[in-house]
Amino acid sequence: MNTDARLYQDLEGILYSREQINEAVCRIGKRITEDYEGREPVMVGILKGASIFFADLIREIDLPLSIDFMALSSYGNATRSSGVVRILKDLDRDIVDKDVLIVEDIVDSGLTLSHLQEVLATRGANSIRVAALLNKKLSDQSRKKLVPDYCCFEVPDKFVVGYGLDYAQKYRNLPDIGILARRIYEK
Ligand code: IMP
Ligand code: MG
Repeated sequence: MNTDARLYQDLEGILYSREQINEAVCRIGKRITEDYEGREPVMVGILKGASIFFADLIREIDLPLSIDFMALSSYGNATRSSGVVRILKDLDRDIVDKDVLIVEDIVDSGLTLSHLQEVLATRGANSIRVAALLNKKLSDQSRKKLVPDYCCFEVPDKFVVGYGLDYAQKYRNLPDIGILARRIYEK
């Protein structure tokens, strides 16, 4: 899809191009490969937002990893986290003694992931880390409950979409990451 496609007209601007995303994903894929040398991590993709990032990231990791998925309750159509995590789809396998790497699209307050980490910590994993495509810079840093161990980009405190990230389930198929125009979610 080209940037003159119809979906792009709902953006205020492009934050990161597909080329920049690819470069960043390769960079953290390499780091994860080095950091987990000799181990067989379980990569846990958080549906649906992380799906595209997840598919690209695991192909940049040179390890005998396995994959699994979780789906958590999300925003609905609003633009702020409720902080309450409901598991809509749980892991298929247990994670006892495993090195778990959670793959998420974006950390905003971090409430969702800090709750998820607490839940997974009770299941006997050897380690639990987080790889996020984006980490939002908040003006009020005390709102931040979790900082990802791996992150492609720091983004401003605006509503962003594309490369898996949605607004009201749309825009996930944008190949680039952009800032959604206010008129779209304020109407
Ligand atoms: P947190 O619990 O505040 O960290 O919220 C994290 C979740 O909120 C992410 O998994 C996203 O689904 C969603 N989210 C937060 N900010 C954005 C955004 O700018 N665009 C799209 N989804 C977002
Ligand atoms: Mg999400």
